Formats: sequence, structure tokens, C-alpha cells
Amino acid sequence: MSAAAPRTITLAWTGASGMPYGMRLLECLLRGGVRVYLLYSQAAQVVAKQEMDLALPARAREAEEFLARRFNVGEGALRVFGREEWFAPVASGSNPADAMVICPCSMGTLAAVACGLADNLIERAADVMMKERRPLVLVPRETPLSAIHLENMLRLAHAGATILPANPGFYHHPARVEDLVDFIVGRVLDQLREPHQLTPRWCETPAPRGE
Ligand SMILES: Cc1cc2nc3c(=O)[nH]c(=O)nc-3n(C[C@H](O)[C@H](O)[C@H](O)COP(=O)(O)O)c2cc1C
Repeated sequence: MSAAAPRTITLAWTGASGMPYGMRLLECLLRGGVRVYLLYSQAAQVVAKQEMDLALPARAREAEEFLARRFNVGEGALRVFGREEWFAPVASGSNPADAMVICPCSMGTLAAVACGLADNLIERAADVMMKERRPLVLVPRETPLSAIHLENMLRLAHAGATILPANPGFYHHPARVEDLVDFIVGRVLDQLREPHQLTPRWCETPAPRGE
């Protein structure tokens, strides 16, 4: 990769609660100049409607146009791929993204990735990241967790994935829901080594509001 080429990150949205995390993460990555390959499940569409009143188009190309307009990005900055688009770059270890995040991550997708099912493009892309030993971050959301959930997470952690639960802290005195969202999104960006100023760091003075 040339020094001028943008980093490419695969972002997958699945049907766990927490679509505002996924949407904010997409926004931050695009604003940071990262090229994003976006994948989303059918259940993610249902959750997007429920949690954000957002009608995400079922067709990948329509979703690409819709989201590129929403975030005002030029051609190529965002590519959206369908559930069985096996000719997408993320489907092969010969052309993997620099990193992948599944945010939010349902227990269903987490289980499928832990078992290496690779039955849709999200599962396959995650499988590729692990076999190629590239960073894979999962942001699961469920409570309480069963022994099966915990064993699947442990299995993924042993395989090199990062389990980053959607558990925001409260020690930074969040005043708004957006502060809680940014807490998690900031942690994901840290894992991706993407610079951000979403939340003050431990022992740093917070920036005044509005900055
Ligand atoms: C509004 C809504 C919220 C949901 N929240 C969760 C959740 O927090 N965690 C979870 O594992 N599944 C949750 N589910 C269930 C998943 O969407 C469901 O298991 C689905 O099959 C996951 O499919 P996917 O992994 O292909 O996205 C939720 C479903 C709906 C409709």
C-alpha cells in the first residue's frame, strides 16, 4: 500500500441493540478520511428502524448512495456490500481491509464467527480477518450473558479478536446519550489506531463543550 492510500476498514452492523454506536462509528471513520466497506444484516435494518427511525435501504447500492449523501462523502469513500456479494474484496484473504469492526454485534453473529461458519459476507469477512491475522473488533451487546455467549467470546479472544462490549463508563460524567455513545466509539477508534477527541482521556482536562 502506498503512503498516500487511505486506510480501509470494514464495518459490519448486525441486529444487536446499539445502532447509534454503529452509525456514529461510520461517521467518525468517514470524517477521519478512512475508506469504509460497510456490511449490514437484515436484523440490523430492523434495529435501525426501531432505534433510530432510520429506513436503511435493503439494496446495497441504494444504501451506499443514501449514506454517502447523509455523511457528504465523495465517490469511493464508502462502499456497501450485500449479504451474499461474494465478489466483494472483503470476501478474500488476497484483498482484506486493514481492520474490521462488528458494531453492534449480535450474539447470533458472534456465535457464527466463533464457529467459523462464513455463511454470509459479514461472517466470511470476519473469518478472513482472523485467518489473515488482521485486527478484528467485536462490540457485542446482550445482558445477562449465558455460558454459551461467554464461551464464544473467549473462543474469539483466543483466536486474536478483540471483544469490546458496549459497556460505557460513567466516570467522565456523561450528560447526554451522545456522550455514552462516544465513549464506546472512542474505544473502538483507539483499537483501530484512529485519532479522535471524542472523550477526554484519563487524567486529561476535558475540552470545553462545543469544541
Ligand atoms: C429491536 C431489537 C433489538 C435486539 N437486540 C439484541 C441485542 O441487544 N443482542 C442480541 O444479541 N440480539 C438482539 N436482537 C436479536 C437479533 O437481532 C437476532 O438474534 C438476529 O437474528 C441477529 O441476526 P444478525 O446477527 O444476522 O444480525 C434484537 C432484535 C431486535 C429486533
